[in-house]
Amino acid sequence: MATFLLEYLGTQLMRMTGESVLPMKSLLITLSYHHNNTEKVAQVFAKVLDAQITSPQQINRQKLQDYDLIGFGSGIDSDKHYQGLLDFADKLPQFKDKNAFIFSTSALTGEDKLTRDHMALREKLRGRGCIIVGEFQCKGYNTNSFLRFLGGINKGRPNAEDLKHAEEFALNLKQSLQETFSYNDMNR
Ligand SMILES: Cc1cc2nc3c(=O)[nH]c(=O)nc-3n(C[C@H](O)[C@H](O)[C@H](O)COP(=O)(O)O)c2cc1C
Repeated sequence: MATFLLEYLGTQLMRMTGESVLPMKSLLITLSYHHNNTEKVAQVFAKVLDAQITSPQQINRQKLQDYDLIGFGSGIDSDKHYQGLLDFADKLPQFKDKNAFIFSTSALTGEDKLTRDHMALREKLRGRGCIIVGEFQCKGYNTNSFLRFLGGINKGRPNAEDLKHAEEFALNLKQSLQETFSYNDMNR
């Protein structure tokens, strides 16, 4: 009853103010261990989306049905997301049009690189009934292999500018999803 009332009041307030106050429940599932680069991006997303950050090991898969939006992100290893995240995606429940987004940090970036690096995870998520509503990638500090002896590459990345882009990405995502939710709600 209380939940119904809150939802009703939220909808009415939204209609009066033109602003969406519908609760959008978001979750971030992240694997980040090389230099915690992806974790830094996830923290920015978490703030904008008011989302909890969790890892594949911590989350109960059945709980995922409760979320309106789920972000999946990790560093890139051999042109793919970390294996732990890919394995997790293989065992997801079957969703029906679950909003999801993909993110990563990597040594090299670019439009084609993002398309390629995200392909494995993108296909798995689509196979589980996710709609990919956005993708984000930025550079991350990398000391893999021999690079360690040279001080690594991308030192200091993600930097303030990368994190600003991450913030803008999340704000855009939030706004477009809230518009969709508002539209659906008004046409219910
Ligand atoms: C074992 C290993 C393999 C990597 N392979 C790639 C790669 O194929 N392409 C790439 O652009 N970056 C690669 N990187 C760089 C990482 O993706 C990058 O440093 C990332 O920001 C690490 O994320 P994390 O700190 O969140 O774990 C690799 C790093 C490691 C340690």
